[in-house]
Amino acid sequence: MVAIVVSLASTLFTAAASPSSSTTLLTKLRFAPSLRLSFAVTPLSYRRGGKLMAHTIARATLGLTQPSAIEPPKISFAAKEIDVTEWKGDILAVGVTEKDLTKDESSKFENPILKKLDSHLGGLLAEASSEEDFTGKAGQSTVLRLPGLGSKRVGLIGLGQSASTAAAFRGLGEAVAAAAKAAQACDVAIVLASSEGLSAESKLSTASAIVSGTVLGTHEDNRYKTESKKSNLKSVDILGLGSGPELEKKLKYAEDLSSGIIFGKELVNSPANVLTPGVLAEEASKIAAAYSDVLSAKILNEEQCKELKMGSYLGVAAASANPPHFIHLTYKPPSGPVKTKLALVGKGLTFDSGGYNIKTGPGCSIELMKFDMGGSAAVLGAAKALGQIKPPGVEVHFIVAACENMISGTGMRPGDIVTASNGKTIEVNNTDAEGRLTLADALVYASNQGAEKIVDLATLTGACVVALGPSIAGVFTPSDDLATEVLTASEAGGEKLWRLPLEDSYWESMKSGIADMVNTGGRQGGAITAALFLKQFVDEKIQWMHIDLAGPVWDDKKRSATGFGISTLVEWVVKNSS
Ligand code: BES
Ligand code: MN
Ligand code: ZN
Repeated sequence: MVAIVVSLASTLFTAAASPSSSTTLLTKLRFAPSLRLSFAVTPLSYRRGGKLMAHTIARATLGLTQPSAIEPPKISFAAKEIDVTEWKGDILAVGVTEKDLTKDESSKFENPILKKLDSHLGGLLAEASSEEDFTGKAGQSTVLRLPGLGSKRVGLIGLGQSASTAAAFRGLGEAVAAAAKAAQACDVAIVLASSEGLSAESKLSTASAIVSGTVLGTHEDNRYKTESKKSNLKSVDILGLGSGPELEKKLKYAEDLSSGIIFGKELVNSPANVLTPGVLAEEASKIAAAYSDVLSAKILNEEQCKELKMGSYLGVAAASANPPHFIHLTYKPPSGPVKTKLALVGKGLTFDSGGYNIKTGPGCSIELMKFDMGGSAAVLGAAKALGQIKPPGVEVHFIVAACENMISGTGMRPGDIVTASNGKTIEVNNTDAEGRLTLADALVYASNQGAEKIVDLATLTGACVVALGPSIAGVFTPSDDLATEVLTASEAGGEKLWRLPLEDSYWESMKSGIADMVNTGGRQGGAITAALFLKQFVDEKIQWMHIDLAGPVWDDKKRSATGFGISTLVEWVVKNSS
């Protein structure tokens, strides 16, 4: 039997991730305004134009909002090999495909598990499922209160025509979480109607996807609500997928991954008045401190970025009263040699107003632009997960040039020329194409870390959302090998990525009359020209990929962040380890 306790920790802004402190950052700032942040921020970071920026600190509490530290609900997962009819608890959830529901001439289920349950229930299951018109389609679910079993209720969860993907099993976990919430259930069991056909390997990945789906489905970000209902879910038994140390390891992986995804979602959900570049850097430092056996943090202030000649990044940051913070976490394995060096670079715009090319008009979504640090949330969420998983043989650099794109007298004007840290000059013909300007210097920095492969993630273009819609990320890379690696990882992670071309001939539109390049090349192929721009800042000897997650970063229906990218990144890094 495998028993794993998953804690849906709301570590963000709480002291949990920072064993040394017992107060939240925001509390510190409010009650001790003279306190300097403990990481590498020198007093200079509070000086802009020679004046001490006392209000920089005050800005962190604009609106007086403080996220509450919500007591994390804990779910324990166990893989058991007991009979479905004997299991006792609140809901026995059965994942069924459309095929599993096939009935014989006498209207009895052919599927052995459904047949067994139905015979214990005197045929009520078959009857009720047809009355409820349950056909097993993905997204369908029905919970029936039936006497005759150890379980109080039986839930049928539709998996579609045939379930084989991580995304489908993650969906099963989410549906179970929703059913548990509706029934205020404490103890649930999850079983697949057909699991005999699964290989040992797919049993592991299926269990892992179910676990992370359940954890994420249970998690609700209530930190900014004054009233919230807590989940009652305490234990989840996974039946029929085996047990043992390998499965145990996989469930632990799912737990660690989920905690990284929750952290990433909380970062993206946090509003820009709370999550400033400085607070993002502090959160990154807390992650490094919590897993200090494998992670270390370096935070560069504005002055230090100036020394590194990051003119492109600093140009974007120039209008903001909240100073930029350049974040660099490093993962090193606990023991053994490093065989592969990787870098993950995330766009970290804690708010994107557009700058002087301000976002106006319907559909510009300016009120959602707190999510413009979704790339950095993916990178830092992956860091948190990997800090717990501790893969051997691989070194990983997590890099974020965090800042805000605002408007003020010190801000960048359309037409200004900025100079990036590789010496290239950029005519800024649109201040709203700011993400690529910050990534330019972050990619140069990443190239200098000795990484063999770099993956950057960014909510970079509305054009990518037009091309691929809200749930698919665009992938750009000159390397077929890296494309295969990351796309394979994304399938295991249950995320949708689609490769788009890096069409060199489109570079024509990025030429400037006065500088080396402009930063925007018009509406056509906007996601591609953005990727071509980034390519100018990556050493050609390094395998590089750009992921545009402007669509999937946010779930409009749930009005919440998705944590997109984290499961793919973690899977990819682990595959690159020995
Ligand atoms: N952060 C936006 C991209 C974005 C837009 C993400 C909508 C999610 C939803 C980015 O900084 C941006 O403003 N891009 C511009 C580029 C244009 C000026 C070439 C865009 O897509 O409109
Ligand atoms: Mn923009
Ligand atoms: Zn942006």
